[in-house]
Amino acid sequence: MKACIIGAGSSGVAAAQVLQARGIDFDCFEKGSQVGGNWRYENDNGMSSAYRSLHINTSRRVMAFESLPMPADYPDYPDHFQMAAYFDEVVDRFNLRPRISFNTEVLKVEPADDAVGEWDVTVAGPDGRATDRYGAVMVANGHHWDARWPEPAFPGAEEFSGEQLHAHEYREPDVLPGKRVLVLGIGNSAVDIAVESSRIAAKTFVSTRRGAWVIPKYLNGKPIDEVANSLTGLAPIPVMRAAMQRSLKVAVGDPTDYGLPKPDHKLLEAHPTVSSEFLPRLGHGDITAKPNIEAFAGGRTVRFVDGTEEEIDLVVYCTGYKITFPFLGPEVLAAPDNRLPLFRRVVSVERPGLYFIGFIQPLGPIMPIAEAQSEWVADLISGGAVLPGPAEMREQIARQEERQAKRFVASKRHTVEVDFYPYLREIRRERKKAAARV
Ligand SMILES: Cc1cc2nc3c(=O)[nH]c(=O)nc-3n(C[C@H](O)[C@H](O)[C@H](O)COP(=O)(O)OP(=O)(O)OC[C@H]3O[C@@H](n4cnc5c(N)ncnc54)[C@H](O)[C@@H]3O)c2cc1C
Ligand SMILES: NC(=O)c1ccc[n+]([C@@H]2O[C@H](COP(=O)([O-])OP(=O)(O)OC[C@H]3O[C@@H](n4cnc5c(N)ncnc54)[C@H](OP(=O)(O)O)[C@@H]3O)[C@@H](O)[C@H]2O)c1
Repeated sequence: MKACIIGAGSSGVAAAQVLQARGIDFDCFEKGSQVGGNWRYENDNGMSSAYRSLHINTSRRVMAFESLPMPADYPDYPDHFQMAAYFDEVVDRFNLRPRISFNTEVLKVEPADDAVGEWDVTVAGPDGRATDRYGAVMVANGHHWDARWPEPAFPGAEEFSGEQLHAHEYREPDVLPGKRVLVLGIGNSAVDIAVESSRIAAKTFVSTRRGAWVIPKYLNGKPIDEVANSLTGLAPIPVMRAAMQRSLKVAVGDPTDYGLPKPDHKLLEAHPTVSSEFLPRLGHGDITAKPNIEAFAGGRTVRFVDGTEEEIDLVVYCTGYKITFPFLGPEVLAAPDNRLPLFRRVVSVERPGLYFIGFIQPLGPIMPIAEAQSEWVADLISGGAVLPGPAEMREQIARQEERQAKRFVASKRHTVEVDFYPYLREIRRERKKAAARV
């Protein structure tokens, strides 16, 4: 029976490439007219969060699929145009384009009522609406498109007379000149947009509810994620942390040296904020650090939790994204507060035949992981591997959640956070165990 892949972003493309190579029949549905998802600037799927100046922050050699390196003449950190071109190249190299139904949205995914593990998938495309039965569904609709605004909104937000924008909607810096801009958050969207703003806005503030270790893109002339290569990735986290902490001390010093709050967590306990420009812009006085917003205090006044106030024309909420599956009824599966309890972050225990590709937030790139996850799912679909029983999978999920709570700062942005190399090794180990169960 055919498999269904939802989405042809990098994760869906990885899944399609693997299934095709393994001779597994599939349909892949893509809402937009092109592949690349988030990396297609102004994607006509209406879902991309890419802004004009976006470059990857995980270097190209680490981020590339194992099946095809990025072009050798690419820079270490290509921009979104180059990334979209790379995904086009992958699709053409492996002749996947004819296998993808473009401009076709998956509307509904329902468990078949007469066969456990089978799924009825309803799509709407150029030829109208259709429902088909599949033996497996690989969900790859991405998790960085559904903007998460502060919950609840800050008091007085509705009456604020300035503008409010989420990073998801931010495209070009033309919304910034002459304005007093407040960027909320200290993830990668926040630091990128604050840096851009700091060059052309009248004034730029960054407001954060906790500090962050800001990591430069280069260490010793090498992309930082190449320094932490798979060999050093074998080291236990405390050893990695100590080594990186020493290097950071020399390269950039301490966040407090730039007026940022002291992080309330250790290095590598939060998703990495990567920027070589953000700290110097603070040092230049072109960005001013503020604590969290307390309230919008009338007109354009924003009051912060330390009691200070600023007049602000534009607030850019860089407050992250929600994991949502509009095509799944909440009774089938949902991820409230981004909680997505899956066996090894891929397999739904309660919903056999439903697999999730790319629903991780690695300390590193998503693509090679999506590829490894797809190989494992291909093993399972083709009968070359068998899952453990539901009780064992639930136990693993419970242990995983316990570990997660200890390993990362408690935040909705960290529910699917994983260590890059250890997680890849986990998937490879699971593949071996699953093959041995056949
Ligand atoms: C600003 C920004 C920068 C980032 N930078 C990096 C980085 O440097 N490195 C990194 O590893 N990650 C980065 N990420 C994470 C990003 O999520 C991944 O790079 C990558 O886009 C994940 O690919 P995906 O295929 O899982 O999701 P997406 O790229 O979001 O693709 C999902 C695809 O599914 C399609 N789709 C959705 N719903 C449906 C439906 N119902 N029916 C049919 N098709 C559907 C969409 O049209 C889309 O093409 C970044 C994220 C953001 C927001
Ligand atoms: N390639 C690039 O250069 C690039 C650029 C942008 C984004 N990205 C990627 O895109 C993904 C999303 O990044 P993101 O920066 O948009 O989101 P994010 O990583 O989820 O960060 C959200 C930030 O907002 C803060 N926040 C959330 N809710 C808040 C609230 N109610 N009040 C105050 N602060 C709040 C969070 O603080 P807490 O930590 O306290 O929750 C965090 O600092 C990540 O994978 C990121 O790496 C990459």
